[in-house]
Amino acid sequence: MVDHSTDATIASWLRQHGTLARFDLELVLCQILDCSRAHILTNPHRSLSQPELDQLERWSDQLYNHVPIAYLCGNQEFWGLRLTVDHRVLVPRPDTETLVEQALECIDTLTRIRSAETTLTLLDLGTGSGAIALALASERPDTQVHACDFSLDSLAVAHENSRLLRLPVTFHHSDWFTDIAQSFDLIVSNPPYIAPDDPHLDLLGAEPAHALIADDNGLADLRRICEQAGALLHSDGWLLLEHGYDQGPAVRSLLAENGFIDVQSRRDLGGNERVTWGQKPSDQALSAHE
Ligand SMILES: C[S@@+](CC[C@H](N)C(=O)[O-])C[C@H]1O[C@@H](n2cnc3c(N)ncnc32)[C@H](O)[C@@H]1O
Repeated sequence: MVDHSTDATIASWLRQHGTLARFDLELVLCQILDCSRAHILTNPHRSLSQPELDQLERWSDQLYNHVPIAYLCGNQEFWGLRLTVDHRVLVPRPDTETLVEQALECIDTLTRIRSAETTLTLLDLGTGSGAIALALASERPDTQVHACDFSLDSLAVAHENSRLLRLPVTFHHSDWFTDIAQSFDLIVSNPPYIAPDDPHLDLLGAEPAHALIADDNGLADLRRICEQAGALLHSDGWLLLEHGYDQGPAVRSLLAENGFIDVQSRRDLGGNERVTWGQKPSDQALSAHE
């Protein structure tokens, strides 16, 4: 019988890769040893077989190359939902839950001001894995949730997540608003907003560039969305945007320049301005202004 035993243990393997994030290493161990994190923490002296060690080394090599742990595990939790993710989509970030929180508050407000028979329509622009659209669909099954992306690869992942989670979303293949033919009560987007020369991109090379990078110092897509969203929003509807930690003032200006009112920003858990939103004036306010 072949002896696959080695001198390596969970503790020695963790020590050997001490420069990598400890939590990521523990997740890798859980996946490859097919056990819980509690087992990893309480059995530091469990020995590793050669096949286990080989697989662990292949995965840790990828972590050294900045491949996100979510791609290795094939899933990422967002808003309590387990989303399937791979190299075709951005890994949903915890910061984006701030956008979902604010969107839900705006939806509550709209629910109060619209007639009881109205079904609110929501659009997630640039849906990627479907994270935002699916979070909204899970919280507000009484609304109609739509989502678009210009990447067919992203839409395939989002569609699969919608199917697996049994959360209905209507998907559109569209370059921002180009192929969207209806209006909405609320539009939400986490568009690409990193400038092409931003040094942080060095660590993000495994994720799709089209999900991350925008011209004009990261503002090109945010600007296009601010310019075009008003035409597809119902009166009193909201546009909510995620943006970079230092882009709050620029996004507030873009919203105000494009006729949005009550423009505000909200900070993420790290204390950075992360989400900015504005409201399309009601028809009455617009006609009074004319
Ligand atoms: C920052 S990622 C956000 C993904 C997802 N909404 C999230 O929060 O995890 C931006 C998404 O916008 C999409 N995108 C980029 N440019 C687009 C365009 N012109 N029209 C539609 N979608 C676009 C990308 O494919 C990507 O999925």
